This record gives sequence, C-alpha cells and structure tokens, in this order.
Amino acid sequence: MPSTIRTTALPSGEAVQVLGQGTWKMGEDSRRRVQEVNALKLGLDLGMTLIDTAEMYAGGGAEEVVAEAIAGRRDEVFLVSKVLPSNASRAGVRRACESSLERLATDRIDLYLLHWPGSVPLGETVEAFEALKKAGKIRHWGVSNFDTEDMEDLVGLREGANVQTNQVLYNLVRRGLEFDLAPWSRQRGIPLMAYSPVEQGALAHNARLETIATRHNVTAAQIALAWVIARDGVIAIPKASSQEHVRQNFAALDIRLTEEDFADLDRAFPPPTRKRGLEMI
Ligand SMILES: NC(=O)c1ccc[n+]([C@@H]2O[C@H](COP(=O)([O-])OP(=O)(O)OC[C@H]3O[C@@H](n4cnc5c(N)ncnc54)[C@H](OP(=O)(O)O)[C@@H]3O)[C@@H](O)[C@H]2O)c1
Repeated sequence: MPSTIRTTALPSGEAVQVLGQGTWKMGEDSRRRVQEVNALKLGLDLGMTLIDTAEMYAGGGAEEVVAEAIAGRRDEVFLVSKVLPSNASRAGVRRACESSLERLATDRIDLYLLHWPGSVPLGETVEAFEALKKAGKIRHWGVSNFDTEDMEDLVGLREGANVQTNQVLYNLVRRGLEFDLAPWSRQRGIPLMAYSPVEQGALAHNARLETIATRHNVTAAQIALAWVIARDGVIAIPKASSQEHVRQNFAALDIRLTEEDFADLDRAFPPPTRKRGLEMI
C-alpha cells in the first residue's frame, strides 16, 4: 500500500491528491445509504481524502451522505462541491453555498465549482466566488465542463485567473480534450479533474483493457484509472459505492503502466487528431 497518495499542485500552490472519490448517484435511495457512507469512509481510511459532490446530486442528498461519512473527521478531507448554473448569480451563489454547507454539516468547502457554463455572466459568478472566499465559506473556486474558449474567457476576467481546476469528462474513450484543452491547462498549471474516469463503469467490461489488465494481474477498471492518473496534472474522481471497488481504485495507484501498455492503449483508444467540442455526461 503506498504510504502517501501522489499529489498535484493547484495554481494556489496547494497540493491535492490525484485520486479522489465521486458521489454522483449517492443519496438517491435510502436503502443504499449505509453502504454509500461506508464506502466513502473506507476510502478515507485508506487515505483518499478528496471527495467530490454537488448540490445537484440527489437534490442535495449526496451532500448529506458525504456529511455522514466525514462526521468527526472534517479536517482530513478536501471537500469539492458545485453550484448549478441556474444558481450562479451573486445572490444565488451565496444562497446555494449556504445550503450546501448546511447539508455538508461544515463551515467551509475547500473547492467550489460552477457545474457547467450557464447564462449568468461569468464575471458575476467569479465575484460571488471571491466574496465567499473572503467570508471564509470556500477556500478555492473552479469550474466544470469548460472548453478551451470558455477558459480563455474566464481567465480574461477580473480575478478569473484565480480558477483552481476545471472538472471535465476524461477517460480512455473520451480523449478529445487532449487536442487543446489539456495542453492549454497544463501550460497554465491548472489541473483537470477527470470525472467518469471508468466511463460510469463501462470500461470495467472492456475486452481491450482486459488484455492489459491480465499482464498486471489487475482489473480492466484499474487499468482505466491507472491511465488517467498517470497523466500530468490530472486528478481522477471515480465513484464507488462497493467496498471492493474502493479497494481496487486505491490499489490502482500502485499500477505502473509500461511503454508497451501506453502504446497498446493508444492503438486501442486513439488520441484526437483534430479539435472536437468538449463532451459532457
Ligand atoms: N462535473 C460534472 O459534470 C460531473 C459529471 C459526472 C460525474 N461527476 C463526478 O465524477 C464522479 C465519477 O464519475 P461517474 O460517477 O459518472 O462515473 P465513474 O466513476 O466512471 O463510474 C462509476 C461507476 O463505476 C463503478 N466502479 C467504480 N469503481 C469500479 C471498479 N474498480 N471496478 C468496476 N466498477 C467500478 C461504480 O460502481 P459502484 O458504485 O457499484 O461501486 C459505478 O457504477 C461522480 O460520482 C461525480 O462526483 C462530475
């Protein structure tokens, strides 16, 4: 077991782990609640302390699951949550953040993201984020589902360059952003946070991944995850509600993909050769 989880730096200089835990679909069914809480707790016990959630998930229910999982150990956690674009006005962001803090049973969010670009002028959302920072309600802010042009617009705004991450759909079958968004972000030291890193479970059954997995005596999902976190400046946030998946995801940190593996993966899942619009789930 690795003694420490590898980290990458936010533009602020703060180190964040390259492997965290997602929570989409948690909090939707009370019969699964104990299992979900226990999965997140196991992840924390193993040392995976970055937890990603959103006000949207289960209409706030996922944040309540997170609250239960982190109770009594808030200081261990790097908590990420998101505000809906429909709440992205100055007053809306403040209200949404207060509600998230209440559901999360905490006094601060470590990284607060705009879930996707919406119709509220971005400058207004940035101002609202900065005000929350000053008030100590959030420590950092970022965005999600922003393509390169959206990022260009953002960093051109007053205080827009304070953005700390862009959370995007990225995995072996969603490599389009490698054409321009990934190099653009890397050049500016803005980490990408890869959501759906195992394509919502679909890559766990991929025959081409299984061939490589056999070489390492691991699973196809673990290879998919090891590939994402091997990228420079990328943080992966797989969601797992089964303890077995949590353990496997953690163990993916120890997989060292070889040159041969990377070449085989490039053949099976070719990188983009032209600009494509950013994909979203
Ligand atoms: N910003 C955005 O717009 C956005 C969009 C989507 C997701 N997200 C965030 O990113 C997180 C991850 O994305 P996601 O939930 O869409 O997809 P994902 O993490 O790629 O896949 C989750 C699914 O894969 C299964 N799984 C997890 N680890 C596995 C393993 N080792 N082997 C086999 N199957 C495994 C899970 O099963 P079990 O649950 O049964 O263990 C679950 O069904 C979300 O939970 C959310 O926090 C953000």
